Amino acid sequence: MQASTYPNAPAAAYEDTAVRQFALMAVVWGVVGMLVGVIIASQLAWPDLITGISWLSYGRLRPLHTNAVIFAFGGSALMATSFHVVQRTCQVRLFAPKLASFVFWGWQLVIVSAAISLPLGYTTGKEYAELEWPIDLLIAVVWVAYAVVFFGTIGTRKVRHIYVANWFYGAFIIAVALLHIVNSAEMPAGWMKSYSAYAGVQDAMVQWWYGHNAVGFFLTAGFLGMMYYYIPKQAGRPVYSYRLSIVHFWALIFTYMWAGPHHLHYTALPDWTQSVGMVFSLILLAPSWGGMINGVMTLSGAWHKLRTDPILRFLIVALSFYGMSTFEGPMMSIKTVNALSHYTDWTIGHVHSGALGWVGLISMGSLYYLIPRLYGRTQMYSVPAIELHFWMSTVGIVLYIAAMWIAGVMQGLMWRALNADGTLTYTFVESVKATYPFYVVRLIGGLLYLGGMLVMAWNVWRTVVAGRSVKASIPVPVAA
Ligand code: HEM
Ligand code: HEM
Repeated sequence: MQASTYPNAPAAAYEDTAVRQFALMAVVWGVVGMLVGVIIASQLAWPDLITGISWLSYGRLRPLHTNAVIFAFGGSALMATSFHVVQRTCQVRLFAPKLASFVFWGWQLVIVSAAISLPLGYTTGKEYAELEWPIDLLIAVVWVAYAVVFFGTIGTRKVRHIYVANWFYGAFIIAVALLHIVNSAEMPAGWMKSYSAYAGVQDAMVQWWYGHNAVGFFLTAGFLGMMYYYIPKQAGRPVYSYRLSIVHFWALIFTYMWAGPHHLHYTALPDWTQSVGMVFSLILLAPSWGGMINGVMTLSGAWHKLRTDPILRFLIVALSFYGMSTFEGPMMSIKTVNALSHYTDWTIGHVHSGALGWVGLISMGSLYYLIPRLYGRTQMYSVPAIELHFWMSTVGIVLYIAAMWIAGVMQGLMWRALNADGTLTYTFVESVKATYPFYVVRLIGGLLYLGGMLVMAWNVWRTVVAGRSVKASIPVPVAA
């Protein structure tokens, strides 16, 4: 037993076993998920690349990719950082460490079950909620345990105030429980087969209420929790405006809940519902940008640090991509714009500017801050390797999203082009052929991004081996 060696830590010591486990697994699942991304990107460029092996087919690997990057990589990063942040900001040890250990092993079991069942072809067919009902039940149990550990820690806190990062993490935990339980309501029809409790357009509505809020709460609110803790820490500056952070929180969580129908424009969903989705998506620009500005302005008086600190660069460039994708999203939700973008690779470009740029970079920056401290070191084994990772991922993202934007707009325009006599100017296959070079450019971008992640894995490995594990010790009350 030994005291925490955190430079800015109060006299309390913390329970970081689950933090360490989740942090390392975030890196491992990042490599796996991105590798599958690169494989499916290759399959889109060369459709005959793998033939005759059903479990390696595009249709089965695609959900494996999305589940691995969102729930395994993103989920592990969120759980690691939330358990880390909640202890520091509440100045108390993690509540129920054994339960935290159950959360870790339970979540890994969910991931492994997904990695086996999806390639075998078991799926509910609901995007981002593909896992079959026994795994859904396991997710619900693990998630409730996660909530107990997190809120239990808040409940036993030694400081009166609940720091804003915890509000974002807390909203993420509650909202994801609600979304998962409502959207996964289904009737089992065998061990790995079920039917949704909803039918027709209601099913679509519930699914995209879930899907959009998975973006809003899993891919956004939790990562904003990271932003509000690690940017001020790494920059050595207080949050630019604490008041703005509170407005940001309430405005964001209220608005996100209503925007789902923008995924169902021009469908059987009642037209007014689509318009409500569009209007709330447009409003969403304001809280999103409020948050981004608050994060970026935290650097006031410390801008010079960006020149020398690659970790800060990860965190701040993540926010720029957050700003970009939350500008693009509201634009794409306008029905006439969506008429062009829907079904095209523009959507894929939007997804990955958020996913690679925001979710990926903020996680990597936070993990670079966190991991050396978890292993008793002041910094990562190699800072030049962080620098290399930063440039590989940034160039990779730019190649990926620029290729998809051009391809997407091109596809949209080709599909709607008409001759003077009203017939279509292009056949569908002509648009597929024209997209080919962009798929190759996307693959190069993806390879660079994956390469950067491998550099990170090496650097983390060397840091862990060189460092010593900082074990938990008995907490000392900090403030009266
Ligand atoms: C090396 C990095 C990556 C590569 C090469 C890659 C590649 C791909 C490809 C080829 C698709 C299918 C596109 C299509 O259906 O036309 C896809 C979908 C997707 N990827 Fe990635 N990806 C990467 C990283 C990530 C990360 C880190 C995340 C999230 C944190 C992510 C989230 C998604 C999502 C949500 C979709 C589904 C998009 C939709 O249905 O509209 N990807 N990815
Ligand atoms: C103000 C914020 C945002 C708004 C209003 C918004 C809006 C949209 C719209 C209109 C679509 C296209 C729907 C379609 O045509 O099918 C979309 C797709 C998507 N967006 Fe966003 N977006 C926002 C931010 C983000 C962020 C930050 C991320 C990722 C971290 C993200 C991830 C996604 C994903 C994964 C999809 C694809 C869903 C699918 O069809 O599988 N969005 N978004």
